[in-house]
Amino acid sequence: MSVRERLFAALYDPLSARTEKRFGAELKRQLLADARGRVLEVGIGTGLSLPHYPADVELVGVEPSKPMRRRAQRRAAELGRDVTLVAAPAEELPFEDDSFDTVVTFVVLCSVRDPDRALTEIRRVLRPGGHFIFVEHVRSGDPQLARKQDRFERPWGWIAGGCHPNRQTLGAIEAAGFDVVELEQKDLPDIPRLVRPHIIGVAADETPTRAASPGSAV
Ligand SMILES: C[S@@+](CC[C@H](N)C(=O)[O-])C[C@H]1O[C@@H](n2cnc3c(N)ncnc32)[C@H](O)[C@@H]1O
Repeated sequence: MSVRERLFAALYDPLSARTEKRFGAELKRQLLADARGRVLEVGIGTGLSLPHYPADVELVGVEPSKPMRRRAQRRAAELGRDVTLVAAPAEELPFEDDSFDTVVTFVVLCSVRDPDRALTEIRRVLRPGGHFIFVEHVRSGDPQLARKQDRFERPWGWIAGGCHPNRQTLGAIEAAGFDVVELEQKDLPDIPRLVRPHIIGVAADETPTRAASPGSAV
């Protein structure tokens, strides 16, 4: 475990405190009110979302970073919230096909090694008709800011846990086969300009049968 990984985990809550208070917690509360059944949060971090899930969902979180997971575990214990925390990357989710009713990512697809593979995995574990709820920061539509996001990609990633500020995440979600059924695109305030452009939404995979055999009538 690197010093940077430990430092990022230790500073994550203090650095998020202001935005959580101003809008982050409320945004999570609103979006997670629609979480149903068996829920997977990918890249759950320190568990900032934990207080905002409905009490009756069965919650599983994956998080590859041990210091993040430890903090999430502590927070869950403080809240008396049952959650199963699993050490795994989004690119290799250790779950059966169609095994979740809801999958959630909050600013995670910017940080995963391979967003296309992560999205394929999210779609695989989400049951047909289930919902994928996301809040992700993305490449700016303003060419000047997008150029800046490209230029600062490496130094930003170095200080921000491997985050890439310039990813076209909406296109990646659609390319993975999801239908985006709700979408808000806006700049969130009170954060560095490089990562202000966000997509907030819900995607669904309505495909009734994922692995139709060749030649079968679908
Ligand atoms: C910016 S933090 C967001 C944490 C949390 N979702 C939140 O909203 O506070 C990004 C998280 O993604 C995790 N992460 C990085 N690479 C990952 C991967 N390949 N699979 C799953 N999570 C990953 C990091 O460890 C970190 O906890």
